[in-house]
Amino acid sequence: MLATAISKIQGSPISAIFDHATQLRAEGRDLIDFSVGEPDFDTPEHICDAGIKAIRDGITRYTPVDGTAALKDAIARKFSAENALEFSHSEIAASAGAKPLLATALQTVINPGEEVIISTPAWSSHVGMVEVCNGKPVLVPTTQDDGFKLGVAALEAAITPKTRMLFLCSPSNPTGAVYSAQELAKLADVLRRHPNVLIISDDLYEHIIFDDNRFATLAAVAPDLRDRILTVNGVSKAYAMTGWRIGYAGGPAWWMDGMRKVSSQTNGGPCSISQAASIVALDGPQGFLATWRETYRKRRDIALDGLANIEGLKVNKPEGAFYLMPHCGGLLGRKQPDGKIIETSSDLASYLLDQGVVIVPGAGFFCDPYFRMSIATSDTNIIEGIRRMTAACNALV
Ligand SMILES: Cc1ncc(COP(=O)(O)O)c(C=O)c1O
Repeated sequence: MLATAISKIQGSPISAIFDHATQLRAEGRDLIDFSVGEPDFDTPEHICDAGIKAIRDGITRYTPVDGTAALKDAIARKFSAENALEFSHSEIAASAGAKPLLATALQTVINPGEEVIISTPAWSSHVGMVEVCNGKPVLVPTTQDDGFKLGVAALEAAITPKTRMLFLCSPSNPTGAVYSAQELAKLADVLRRHPNVLIISDDLYEHIIFDDNRFATLAAVAPDLRDRILTVNGVSKAYAMTGWRIGYAGGPAWWMDGMRKVSSQTNGGPCSISQAASIVALDGPQGFLATWRETYRKRRDIALDGLANIEGLKVNKPEGAFYLMPHCGGLLGRKQPDGKIIETSSDLASYLLDQGVVIVPGAGFFCDPYFRMSIATSDTNIIEGIRRMTAACNALV
C-alpha cells in the first residue's frame, strides 16, 4: 500500500501527456506536439566535447553530494557576473537537475502541514513536490488580466501563521510572465514583514526573455532577505541540456547544510560527466543564447499571430520562457462534429489530439479554462499546428 501522502498526489500531468504522445507517435500518428517542456536545439558541440573528454579523462567516479569544487567555482562566477550575487562554496549546491534540487530544498525545511504559497497557473511539480513533503500548497490564482503575476495584496492575504514558504518562478512556466525588479521589490516589502517565510526563486528560464524585459531575481533585489532565499537555476533550459541533469542553487549556508545532509542519504552526487560539461557551459561562449532567444521570440510572434485568428481564444504575450497560455473560455459549450460538448480545457485537449495537435490542458497548471502551448518547436510545426487548431476550432458549432 502506498504511503498516505503519495496516494493523495497526482503524477505530473505533463509527463503523462508526453508519454501518451510518444506512444501515439510510435503507433504512427502524425502529431504536432506543443506539450514539450524542453529546448529543441542540440546541446552545443563544445559542451558535448567537454562531456566526452571527461569520460576519456576518467572523470567517472563519485563526487561530493553537492557538486565538485570546480563546478561550484563556475556556479559562483555565473551568479556573480549575471546576477550580482556572491556565494561561497558552502552557499552553493548542485544536483541531478533543478527538479530534485527543489524537492530536496523543500524536504529540508517543510514540516508536515506547513503552507507553501504558489501562484497559479503553476508548474505542476512545484505543487506536487510540496505534497510529497507533506506540506500544504496554498494556490493563489492570477489571471491574464493581471499579467499572471502575484500582487502584493494577494500575497499578504495568503500569508498565515502556518506559511513556511513562497515559490516564485520568473520567467514563468507555464505563463511566460516575467517579474520586473520593481515588482519583486514590492513583494519583498511584504516578505520583510513576515520573517518566517522562506522563498524559493526558480530562475530556470532566466536566459529566455523577450523585448524590453530584463531578468531580475529576488535575492539581488532584496539582499537583506538573502538568509531566507534559495536561488535555483540549471543548465537544462539555458543550454539545451535537459538530459544531462544538472541543476544548482545559491542560498544560505544553513539551508545548504540541511540539503547536503538529505542528499547524502538520498540522491548522492550528480553525474560527474555532466558536472564537467556544465562547467564548460557556464564558463564557455554565451553568444548562441542571444540567437536562440531571437529564434524563440520569432516563434512566439508567429504563434501569437496565428492564435489571434482563432475565435474563442484569448492570448497574452509571454515576456519570457517558451510557453503560451491561451484562455479558451470562448470555446466552452461548443459542440464537436461528433456531438460532444467542450466543457473544459481537457475536453479541448482531447479533441485537438484527435486532430493531430498536442496541448496541455489547464488542469495540469491548476487553472481552467486555459491551456499551455510550448513553442520549443520549429516555425513549420507551429504554422502547421495552428492551421490544424484553427480548422478544428472552426468546426465547433
Ligand atoms: C520552472 C521549472 N523549474 C524547474 C524545472 C526542472 O528543470 P531540470 O531539468 O533542471 O530538472 C523545470 C522543467 O520543466 C521547470 O519548468
